[in-house]
Amino acid sequence: MKKFNIFATDIIQGPLYERLKKDGHKLTVWDRREDGPLTSEKMIENANDSEVIISMLSNTIDAYILAQLPKLKLITQYAVGFNNIDIKYAHSKEIIICNTPNVLTEATAELAMALMLAVARNLEAARKNVLNKEWETWEPSGFIGNSLFKKKHGIIGAGRIGTQLAKMCKGAFDQEIYYTGPNRKDEIESSCNAKYLSLEELAQECDIISIHCPYNEETHKLIDKKIFALFKNNVILINTARGEIIDEEELFSFFEKHKEAKAGLDVVCNEPLKADSPLRKLDNVFILPHIGSANDEARLNMAQLIYDNISAFSKDEELKTRV
Ligand code: DGY
Repeated sequence: MKKFNIFATDIIQGPLYERLKKDGHKLTVWDRREDGPLTSEKMIENANDSEVIISMLSNTIDAYILAQLPKLKLITQYAVGFNNIDIKYAHSKEIIICNTPNVLTEATAELAMALMLAVARNLEAARKNVLNKEWETWEPSGFIGNSLFKKKHGIIGAGRIGTQLAKMCKGAFDQEIYYTGPNRKDEIESSCNAKYLSLEELAQECDIISIHCPYNEETHKLIDKKIFALFKNNVILINTARGEIIDEEELFSFFEKHKEAKAGLDVVCNEPLKADSPLRKLDNVFILPHIGSANDEARLNMAQLIYDNISAFSKDEELKTRV
């Protein structure tokens, strides 16, 4: 079994790091709270001797960084998305990339469902009412939200997470499921009786639209001015994928104009959301700090996958989740 120098770009809860150390690897962990933000220069300095990096989705690992890490052989990303890593360049340098698919499917679908419920039933405004001590009486006409039952739900990207959410919405709310993406998908069609539409048709047809596709060159600003123009004025838009899939200026214009429409976003462009972001001004846009995979089971299983991949790599065995 080979022993590696491993650089981990943040603290991960649970036994992962202890187990790696017990296996004889040398581990350096960046502690963001003590060490501050991990800049490119600090990453290069700290990972200089590393064969393995454990990365977070918030770390940009571009060609500039990769070119300066001559010993690097494996990046294990603690997330399913890996758009923060220059994969093409990494592969050209024979650096292997692994991610953590499957184990966070349910957690992320759960969060998409939570966002949908929170915006449909005005939970943020209702909670603020209690916290601000403004609850005076039972309000016959206050906080009236939207029902989710039997609504038309359009899934953009019927992969694991999109399909899981579709099943949950079909089961819980008897929703009619539609989907779009580059290819037709058997599972969502057979389990949810989902119908395949073009993005334009789906945008026009659906009451709820949720985004689950990966972020790449093809999906950059997929939801642009033309697509927003097709949305219903009271659409519910959910995004737990990546902020950059939506043109954020157009998102602002649409939700500023259509107060009946609601957005539930776990992701935005350029996270964390800037203090002066205009999106903060909109009551109909509900934003969370990218917590899709943040449940106890998912995070433990993600760490386990990282351990399994590093162990397999140290024994020259096949990696479980290579991308
Ligand atoms: C990921 O892991 O890429 C997702 O954004 C989960 O929130």
